[in-house]
Amino acid sequence: MAETFTADALPADKAARYALLRQEIAAVTEGEPDEVARMASVAAMLAQAFPSFFWTGFYRVDPAKEAELVVGPYQGTLGCLRIAFGRGVCGAAAARRQTVNVEDVEAFADHIACDSRSRSEIVVPVLDGKGRLIAVLDVDSTHLGAFDAVDAEGLEAIVRDVFGSDQS
Ligand code: SME
Repeated sequence: MAETFTADALPADKAARYALLRQEIAAVTEGEPDEVARMASVAAMLAQAFPSFFWTGFYRVDPAKEAELVVGPYQGTLGCLRIAFGRGVCGAAAARRQTVNVEDVEAFADHIACDSRSRSEIVVPVLDGKGRLIAVLDVDSTHLGAFDAVDAEGLEAIVRDVFGSDQS
């Protein structure tokens, strides 16, 4: 299984790569009730499938705090631990419950620079089967304008599959 989702074994075309990755992630995470285990698997498989991704991971809604995200499973360099709703790109996606695609992080007024090498990023809200916001998925790139509608649709489909139905 391990080598089937590495970049070399996946199609070069981005939409086709997302389509295959989506199936492989669904197969790996299916039936796993632990949300953190599913998040860790998604972060690892995205990082392996897209070596150009500099940071892939989750910020979870902290149930003990009001409107605050706390870092969850990720692959990449050290991320900030906590982000308030409305702050940075992650906080904007959480507050709006909408995907936020930032082509140039320096042009995003409230961007939180966890690592100055990050130049563009896309953040997708993660909703559970009851429509509650449980986390956001953050993917960063060292290139400007790395993400487009294909990424948005691909990432949204993956989080819908893995977190949008009640697995517990
Ligand atoms: N840049 C993000 C913070 C998270 S890190 O990049 C891992 C933001 O502005 O929300």
